[in-house]
Formats: sequence, structure tokens, C-alpha cells
Amino acid sequence: MNSFAEDVLKGLSANPRYLPSMYFYDEAGDRLFKEITKLEEYYLTRCEEEILNNQKEKMLQCFSPDGAGFNLIELGPGDGLKSRILLEYLKKHQVDFEYFPIDISDNVLSLLEKNLSRKLPGLKIHSMNMDYFKALDELHRFTHKPSIVLFLGSNIGNFKHQESVNFLKALHEKIDDDDRLLIGMDLKKDAKLILAAYDDKKGITRDFNLNYLERINRELRGEFLPEHFFHKAVYDQESGEAKSFLVSKCKHEVYIGALDQTFVFDKNEAIFMEVSKKFDGYSIEQLAAETGFRVEQYFYDNSRYFTNVIWRKV
Ligand code: AVJ
Repeated sequence: MNSFAEDVLKGLSANPRYLPSMYFYDEAGDRLFKEITKLEEYYLTRCEEEILNNQKEKMLQCFSPDGAGFNLIELGPGDGLKSRILLEYLKKHQVDFEYFPIDISDNVLSLLEKNLSRKLPGLKIHSMNMDYFKALDELHRFTHKPSIVLFLGSNIGNFKHQESVNFLKALHEKIDDDDRLLIGMDLKKDAKLILAAYDDKKGITRDFNLNYLERINRELRGEFLPEHFFHKAVYDQESGEAKSFLVSKCKHEVYIGALDQTFVFDKNEAIFMEVSKKFDGYSIEQLAAETGFRVEQYFYDNSRYFTNVIWRKV
């Protein structure tokens, strides 16, 4: 059994049921997420782009106060549209840097390389098609310049609290004292705005969720009927967790060939699909302290909906 099959089996056998969010991004999922980022309601991408555009000069000053060169490492670059804002600026100002995008998807990396070499000829780009931590190990062996590690897009929000603690502690072990992280974090705000971002009028977020079931159908010979589920988003202001679910409209059975198993869904039974955590100053400082980091600098958009935060080791 491959790991997708194993993880689906584990999640659908759990009570309550869940599906791990790392598998949203097959080809259709990538395309649907791209559409989400252009939605009126989905403010996150626009806010982060605004921050990068307006504050890239100050960011560079933090990255390299003495003007020395560095490695720009990006965990999960996606289509690279956000990082391109920084890359363009650094190149224009003849900063001595090389770019190392790290992703487990070969497809993501080859598209990114194609795009960037066209838009930014001469950029020194070294794609690393492997696990984040393995890539950081390799980098450590081959270069001695300080690292700036980008983890943009509120991707950290997809972790449950303990997962982000584990992730950040592992990252802490892999980097040096003079290295820095730049993390994109979505901020707590009016619950209506957050809910709308995860339950848009056009139903793209619904389709993004339903594509997960369709991926199970395609890759694991599943027999989900997407129309038997509705999409539900909730937001808890206290924890800052926006969560999305697929809820069964009726009692029904679903056979999954690759698992050779039938799953019975009750009417109103929910599959937990994804958490998108929202932070505030307090929870950011606490997460940093808990994982051996300190916040060096916050950057905000004009509405203060989102923040990009520079972290250093304590
Ligand atoms: C890519 C994880 C940042 O949580 O906002 C968007 C994913 N899911 N709409 C997010 C997502 C539904 C997104 N991240």
C-alpha cells in the first residue's frame, strides 16, 4: 500500500474521521488552490503580496544588515509568485544570493524553474526535490553562507499546535545562529471575514475539498459520490482555528478498491479536512518561545490582516 492509501485508511478509520491535508495538492488541487488565491474573499495571498512589495527593502536590511551574501531557501515555494517579489528586488540590487526552493513535488519545482528562468534570467536557482529537513542537511554540508528560510503563505497554519511545535523545533536544529526564518502567518480578525475566506460564494473552496474525494476515486479506486457531501467551514475565535469539513448529507456506504474496504457514513457525519490557524501577537511570541526562537521583526499589510515575521534562534 502506498502512503496515500495508508493515510486515507488511517483517517477514515479514526473516530471522528479526518483526511490529512497534505494530499489536497494533486494537479487539480494545485489548480483549484490557485483559483482560491484569486478569490475576492481570500485575502491571505493579496495581503502577503502587499507586505512583500511594500517592505522588501526593510526585509533585506534584516536579512543582511552588513550587506553580506546569503542563501535564500524556500520551503514549499508553490508557483513562486510571492517569492518572485523578493527575488526580483534582490537581483535588481545585486545582492549576492542563491535561491534554493525545496519541495517534495517534482512537478512544482520544474514549473517554478521554467517560470523563474524566463522572468529572472541569470538567477542562481538550485531546486531540491526532497523532504525539507533532508534538504537543509545537504545545504549545511555544501555552503557556509547564512541562510534565510522562507515559509510563506500561512502554510504553518495548516499544522495543529503540536505539529507546528515539532516542525519548528526540528527546523531549529537544522539552522545556525546567524540564520533567519521569514514566516507568513494569518492574523485573527473579524470572524465573518475569516469564514468567508474558507466558504466563498463561487464554491471554489467547496470544490477544492471535494477534489480530495475525487482524488481518492482516481488514485485508490474509490467510489465516493461528491454530491453526497456538503462543505462546512467553522471558526473558533478563542483558538484562532478555522476548520473545514465535508459533511455527509445522508446515511450511505462508500467502497474504496485499493483499501478493499467499505466505509459507512451516517447522516451529518463530518470528515475533518483542514485547519487554518490564525495568530495574534501573543500566540506568535508563545510559539517562538516554545521552540527556541525569538521574533526579530514583524511586517504587516495596511489592514493588519496578515504578518510576515522574522525569527531568529534565541
Ligand atoms: C495554503 C494552507 C495557506 O489554509 O488558507 C485555502 C489552504 N484551504 N482554502 C489556507 C486553503 C482552503 C491555505 N494554505
